[in-house]
Amino acid sequence: MKISIFGLGYVGAVSLACLARDGHSVIGVDIDGAKLDLIRAGTTPVVEEGMVELMAKVAASGRLAVTTDVREALLGSELSLVCVGTPSAANGSQDQGAVLRLAQDIGRALRDKAAPHVVVFRSTLVPGTVEETLRPIIEAESGKRDGEDFHLCFQPEFLREGSSIRDYDKPPFTVVGANHDYPVERLRELFGHLPCKFLRTSVRAAEMMKYCCNNFHALKITFANETARLCDALGVDPFEVMELVCQDTQLNISPAYLKPGFAFGGSCLPKDLRATAYLAKTHDIELPMLSGILASNRQHIERAIAKILDAGHRKVGMLGLSFKTGTDDLRESPLVVLAEQLIGKGMQLSIYDPDVQLSRLLGANRRFIETQLPHIGELLKPELADVIAGADVLVIGVSNPLIFDALATHARPEQFVLDLVNLPNAGMLAARVEGLCW
Ligand SMILES: NC(=O)c1ccc[n+]([C@@H]2O[C@H](COP(=O)([O-])OP(=O)(O)OC[C@H]3O[C@@H](n4cnc5c(N)ncnc54)[C@H](O)[C@@H]3O)[C@@H](O)[C@H]2O)c1
Repeated sequence: MKISIFGLGYVGAVSLACLARDGHSVIGVDIDGAKLDLIRAGTTPVVEEGMVELMAKVAASGRLAVTTDVREALLGSELSLVCVGTPSAANGSQDQGAVLRLAQDIGRALRDKAAPHVVVFRSTLVPGTVEETLRPIIEAESGKRDGEDFHLCFQPEFLREGSSIRDYDKPPFTVVGANHDYPVERLRELFGHLPCKFLRTSVRAAEMMKYCCNNFHALKITFANETARLCDALGVDPFEVMELVCQDTQLNISPAYLKPGFAFGGSCLPKDLRATAYLAKTHDIELPMLSGILASNRQHIERAIAKILDAGHRKVGMLGLSFKTGTDDLRESPLVVLAEQLIGKGMQLSIYDPDVQLSRLLGANRRFIETQLPHIGELLKPELADVIAGADVLVIGVSNPLIFDALATHARPEQFVLDLVNLPNAGMLAARVEGLCW
C-alpha cells in the first residue's frame, strides 16, 4: 500500500520503518527538517531498540521518502497515518495545535484528490475530537464529505517507548474506530496479519478507550507503589505480596469488577479500605489513591440520589436492598445508604428484595439494618408487583430475572426507572428508564 505518515516522532518513525520493512511504500512528513535529514541519511530520528538497523535497511530498500509537503504526501498515497504530538497545555487540557493545523493542510490537499483517501488518526485525542473538531475542518477545507469522498477513522496506538518495534509486531490488540466499512477493510489489509484481535468500534469509543488504557496502566503502577510504601512500613516484602496478588487470575488479574454498575459495599471492602487508610496514617504513610476510593464510591451514591430527587416524585420503590445480587447481607450496602438518604429527604419508600426476609436476618446483619433503617419492617414488602404498582420512581438495585420480568409486565409509561444494574430489557419497558451513568 502507498502510505503517508504525518509526524515522525516515536510513533510515526517506528510505524514508518516497520511499514516499509513489511513492503509498503511510505512517505514521511514532519515540520522538523532535522528529523527528515536523519531519515534521508538512513538513520533514526528516535532512540529505540532495533531502529538503527531497521532504518538503515529500509532506507536502502527505495520504499521510503520524506517531505515537508503535505499535499505531495497526500496525493502520493492511498492512506495517511496521523501521528503528530498532542501534549498537555499549561492548564492540563490537550494541546491540539499540531493536529488542527495538519487537518487544515490535509483538507486543502484533499480538494485535488479524486481517488478515495483514508485518514487514520493515531495520535491520542480526547473523545469527540475526530467527529466534532477534525471532520468539520477537513470537510470545510476540502469541500468534500467524510464517508463519501474520503474516510476518517481513529486507531489508537499501543506501542511503548523502549520496546516499540516489538510492540508494533505484537500489540495487545488492534482497535479501529470507524463509521464506515471502507477504512476498516484498508486497515485490516495493513494490520490484519498481526497476532492479535482486530476489533472494530465507534470513533468515540476508540478515542475513549485509549485514555482508559493509559489511566488503567497508571492506576496499576500506583496501586503497586502505594502497596509497596505500606509494605515497607510494615516490614513486608512488597515484591512477594504483589506477586501473590497477581497469582489470582480469577478475581485480581481478570475482567472481574471491571463492569460499570452501582457503588460497592458489603461487609469487607469498605471496612478493609478504612483499616488500610488507618494503618497508613499510624505509620505516617500517605496513600492518596487508596484513601480516595471510598470518597469516589460515595460520589456514585450521591449521583443516584440526585437522579431520584430530580425526578420530582415522592413515592419511591426500591427493588433490591442487599449489597449485591443473590445475598441477604445488608451490611454497608450502598442501597441501604440510598434508602436512608431518601427517607431523610422525605420520600415515601417501599422496598422489595428477593433475597431479604426480615424474619430470617440474624446477628450483625440484623443489628446493622435495625440501626440504619429502624422502620425496615414497615418498608420491606413481600410482593414485588405491589412495590411496582405503588411507586412513581423505581430504583433497580439487584440483577434478578424475576425483577426484569415483573418490570416488563407491570411498569407504566408515567413511571421513572433508575437502572443501577444495566437492565437487559431496559428498551422493552413501558416506563422511562435511565441508567446511572449509561
Ligand atoms: N510515545 C509513545 O509511546 C506513544 C504511544 C501511544 C500513543 N502515543 C501518542 O501518539 C502521538 C505522537 O506521540 P510521539 O511520542 O510520537 O510524539 P513526538 O512528540 O515524539 O512526535 C511528534 C512529531 O510530530 C511532528 N509534528 C508536529 N506538527 C506537525 C505537523 N503539522 N505536520 C507534521 N509533523 C508534525 C513533530 O515535529 C514531531 O516530530 C501523541 O498523540 C501521543 O500521545 C504516543
